[in-house]
Amino acid sequence: MSVMSTTLDTDAIAAAQAHPNIALIKYWGKRDVPLNLPVVGSLSITLDTLWTRTSVRFGTDLSADRLSLNGREDAKQLRKVSACLDLLRARAGTQARAEVVSRNNFPTGAGLASSASGFAALVMAADAALGLGLPHATLSEFARRGSGSASRSIFGGYVEWALGERADGEDSVARPILDADAWPLRVAVAITSTAEKAIGSTEGMNRTAETSPYQRAWIDTQEADLADARAAIVARDFERLADISEFSCLKMHALAMAAKPGLLYWNAATVAAMHAVRALRASGVPVFFTIDAGPQVKAICLPEAAGQVAAALREVPGVLSVLETGLGGAAMRIPVADAVAA
Ligand code: DP6
Repeated sequence: MSVMSTTLDTDAIAAAQAHPNIALIKYWGKRDVPLNLPVVGSLSITLDTLWTRTSVRFGTDLSADRLSLNGREDAKQLRKVSACLDLLRARAGTQARAEVVSRNNFPTGAGLASSASGFAALVMAADAALGLGLPHATLSEFARRGSGSASRSIFGGYVEWALGERADGEDSVARPILDADAWPLRVAVAITSTAEKAIGSTEGMNRTAETSPYQRAWIDTQEADLADARAAIVARDFERLADISEFSCLKMHALAMAAKPGLLYWNAATVAAMHAVRALRASGVPVFFTIDAGPQVKAICLPEAAGQVAAALREVPGVLSVLETGLGGAAMRIPVADAVAA
């Protein structure tokens, strides 16, 4: 067995930063589980302020891949990280193992999509370390293999992940549809629990696909929702985007609640925060909510309403804290020192 390529630079190290994203038109369900091919297209906004920074060093001195996540060895995530790195190793013609050091500036595993920014930063750093210079579409495809929503975190602003048609998934990649600066919405994230979620997205969506009687309707109605959201974004029509986004969120949760056993990601504070957002909107404040596979409520608003929205969420019983952010840019390379700094 050839152990590794002789072309590998001994100093094959690079770092990248990526931001989490929040889906407005949700991804839920896979048509191919190993490839993470979705049953529906989806559309998201990439956040600013929150980030994952990751450095990857490929070394001929390493006998196995290693992962440090937020300062701790993480064996649980390592298998997926290794599988994702294998895609890049295959392109580079190397079998060199890697040392990955990654950290988030936001809570991991609490419904804030750390896997999205995590795999986007990982593939971008590994691509740079190996000197591949792959196109962003390929990086999106590889990030998708790590976690579906990570395909979207390669890009900034408003991003659509295409359903695609191919069995190999090469066309199921994300693309940017509008820059963050072109319509700078604000996001307030109401944290209602910091516990790890009981049932992760992967397990939840697989259970839903197998048991929810609404799966067919979910698939059949998604294309119209995507078209509606796209049109709202192009026209900067906040009301229209608010209506279709809340619809997609509640439809996804209704679909998942109808699985067997039903998936209930909300707690009492989640519901209270949804009512608070609806009350604000009814009084004329431009804001809407969305919720992923966890109990946090993301309130999206026009910039002038940001202060009022965050203040109102802080008053909701059971809301522990509120993170405020704008929309952010694409994943990018950063100096290695910035990735590993405390
Ligand atoms: C509810 O991308 O975390 O946030 O592909 O299994 O890793 P895997 O799932 P993941 O699921 C995200 C689901 C969601 C909706 C969305 O982000 O579109």
